[in-house]
Amino acid sequence: MRIAFIAAEASPFIKVGGLGDVIGSLPPALRQLGHQPFVLIPACSSIPGLAEMMVVGEFCVPWPGSEELVRIHKAMHSGVPYYFLENGRYLSRERVYGYPDDAERFAFFSRAALESLRIMGTDLKSVPIMEGSMGAGFPDLVHVHDWHASPVLLYLKTPPYCENPAYTRIATVLTIHNLSFQGIADPDLLPKVGLALSPDNALSEFSGRINLMTGGIKSADTVGTVSPTYAREILTPEMGCGLEVALSSRRRVLFGILNGIDTEEFAPPFQSKRLLKAQLQASLGLPVREEVPLLAVVSRLSEQKGFDLFPPILDSLLAEEVQLVVLGTGDERYERLFREATEQCPAKVSANGGFNAPLAKQIYAGADLFLMPSRFEPCGLGQMIALRYGTVPVVRRTGGLADTVFEYNEESQEGNGFLFAPYQPSAFLSAIRRAFSFYKQETHWERIVSNGLTGDYSWASSAPRYIEAYQNSLRQHRYGDRFPVFMGTELILSP
Ligand code: GLC
Repeated sequence: MRIAFIAAEASPFIKVGGLGDVIGSLPPALRQLGHQPFVLIPACSSIPGLAEMMVVGEFCVPWPGSEELVRIHKAMHSGVPYYFLENGRYLSRERVYGYPDDAERFAFFSRAALESLRIMGTDLKSVPIMEGSMGAGFPDLVHVHDWHASPVLLYLKTPPYCENPAYTRIATVLTIHNLSFQGIADPDLLPKVGLALSPDNALSEFSGRINLMTGGIKSADTVGTVSPTYAREILTPEMGCGLEVALSSRRRVLFGILNGIDTEEFAPPFQSKRLLKAQLQASLGLPVREEVPLLAVVSRLSEQKGFDLFPPILDSLLAEEVQLVVLGTGDERYERLFREATEQCPAKVSANGGFNAPLAKQIYAGADLFLMPSRFEPCGLGQMIALRYGTVPVVRRTGGLADTVFEYNEESQEGNGFLFAPYQPSAFLSAIRRAFSFYKQETHWERIVSNGLTGDYSWASSAPRYIEAYQNSLRQHRYGDRFPVFMGTELILSP
């Protein structure tokens, strides 16, 4: 199957969050299964080595009132071609997100991605730019990610694409990585980007505003999210971010498949935990003390990640014999919280800003406990990396955390971590204290760690599920709701 991934970011080229990790690791896993994925992302000017990459095509994208020139760069990653779309007006900016015209930018990116399919997959070097290669390399399916690529699904339903058989035969899948970002814009966006008002993209529920994620949800052949639990949660008013009605209307084709991590990139070091912990403590300037539990946070410091649970418990936590290392940037108030804690208790706390991949790995490897109290968590990758590095997660029972972390049971000796459910500081603190009580019992602790280490966090089981979902999308595309039995896996929700 030829599968076009369309997304805003892809590791190792450019990564803001977990979406980038998935776009960097799922396509290679699909390739290993014998399929032909390729990836399209915007060519942000901060992508290292962009200027040296091969340019494989240049073409004009029809655009209201003008035409826009797009240049395609190409790089290989784990055998998969990654294409970078460059355009001076919209795409060649330093950051991936965060500009006032983001909705317009990503609509343009989506359209440029569709146009570039015309020249993909042929031997690009031998193709005189664009002409004559129509249809040759069209994918069987496009897999779009989050609201940024959702306009792809709206354009496909709009002329000229809906009148061109090369495009109309393409099946579509939308994956939701984070429902709280939806691509909301004023209706004057539509004429600017060549889309028309339709029940799919403008919703009375959104008081007349355009919601690009909703457009994607309503237009995709199938809609997936990144864990089975999150797929169920987003159908509820508490967790649906206002889109639960739109999502429920697609319930028949809604599925949840757990992300994997790149197990080569996150391969635990051979040294013993004892040594790695001592090295970490020393490099952070914390006292090198083996017996003190070392707690770690590696995260964006945002409300989604549950950081408002920290201020009420930090004093009680730091009153115990503990050490805490924090790596991450985000909301100023949380950065300040941990900075001040470091100033007050330098022997217990180490706060580190910025994204620092080597330090992140050193922390995953050297810490004893990994804290992830997310308010919501579509999948979460940090807890899986921690488990793989023998670091025991303490997490909130939500989304993908609930699907990967299991409470340790003293009797059966099963379970790989500690969980709490109510979003309350006291519940979080008592889960941490439960972890402490086992930390002191060596046999139990070794068991918990080894239960985590033996888990499979690779794409080995999830990549084949995507193939199943793709096959179902092809059928849905062809037969629509007449296709009787929908998804063949227990991860897929049935009506
Ligand atoms: C988003 C979600 C996170 C998920 C990631 C990759 O960043 O917040 O839970 O793991 O996407 O799907």
